[in-house]
Amino acid sequence: MIRERILVIGASGQIGVELTLALRKIYGNNNVIASDLREENDLLKGTGPYVSIDVMNKEMLHVQVIRQNITQIYLLAAILSATGEKNPNLAWHLNMQGLLNVLDIAREEKIYKVYWPSSIAVFGPTSPKQNCPQQTIIEPSTVYGISKYAGEFWCNYYYQRYHVDVRSIRYPGLISYKSAPGGGTTDYAVEIYHEALEEKKYTCFLREDTYLPMMYMPDAIRATIELMEAPVANISVRTSYNVSAMSFSPKEISAAIKNYIPEFNISYEPDYRQSIADSWPQSIDDTVARNDWGWQPEYDLNKMTKDMLENLRQQ
Ligand code: NAD
Ligand code: SER
Repeated sequence: MIRERILVIGASGQIGVELTLALRKIYGNNNVIASDLREENDLLKGTGPYVSIDVMNKEMLHVQVIRQNITQIYLLAAILSATGEKNPNLAWHLNMQGLLNVLDIAREEKIYKVYWPSSIAVFGPTSPKQNCPQQTIIEPSTVYGISKYAGEFWCNYYYQRYHVDVRSIRYPGLISYKSAPGGGTTDYAVEIYHEALEEKKYTCFLREDTYLPMMYMPDAIRATIELMEAPVANISVRTSYNVSAMSFSPKEISAAIKNYIPEFNISYEPDYRQSIADSWPQSIDDTVARNDWGWQPEYDLNKMTKDMLENLRQQ
């Protein structure tokens, strides 16, 4: 049996912290190496090894992969949609070159499995708005979406041509209480809980009727691990899987919060992120993920709201 040695790149980010902790529970603390450009996240400190890695520095990355006897890589380092629109060149450069560096090293070192997330941002204004299917018209209008769509095809290429077992999920907007989100359009759905508890009011940068696909972090972590643990024969999609959990608008999340904090008030000041949100589907069809590897979400808006508020209060 292979002793897994897992490298998580971008481990100090919103997903990276929780994914690293979850992988450490499964594979053992010392077998999951957290890495990031920025300093180690406080929640990771003392839970396992941490190395400083810039995914753009291919040589340094390659040395670490060999030195640490890595068998699987989870690549989470990226620039997200809102930050990407402010600096399109940087977003394209990091999101593409970072992925190509990892795929090349995986091919050369015969890395057993690679995980790389895509996003609902691959879909654009011409994709279906409701229950957007796995395969449909895909014409992204943000640099982030373009980089994710190109990345999906690089993953497919490395699988078909070099047999690198790369697996991917098109995450919806992710909501979590442990680590802060990093520059996405769906970040309002995290900020709103913090502000509801601290200020009892929130000014939202999206319109009240902006529906977007969303998912609570425990579901996202479980989806990621279930996909990575699925038998190879079950993986029919080598670009990236649609997964879905819930869809809501700022007005609806605000109503859910009011059930617990009746004095909470929301106001709206849409900014440049509105047009990004408007270009994405409102809900996602994930039938293929359900059929291939048994995907099922656990959290809806109300269950998530209860859990978020309880955990944030404790913090
Ligand atoms: P994040 O911004 O919170 O974390 C990314 C991490 O990557 C940061 O800690 C950052 O310091 C690190 N990083 C940046 N440049 C680096 C470099 N050159 N070398 C090494 N590390 C570097 O992002 P996240 O929300 O955790 O997203 C992780 C992945 O999931 C990304 O690919 C993102 O596109 C995807 N995704 C996230 C969401 C979401 O809602 N969070 C939704 C869809 C897809
Ligand atoms: N949550 C991400 C963003 O808003 C979607 O990939 O950028």
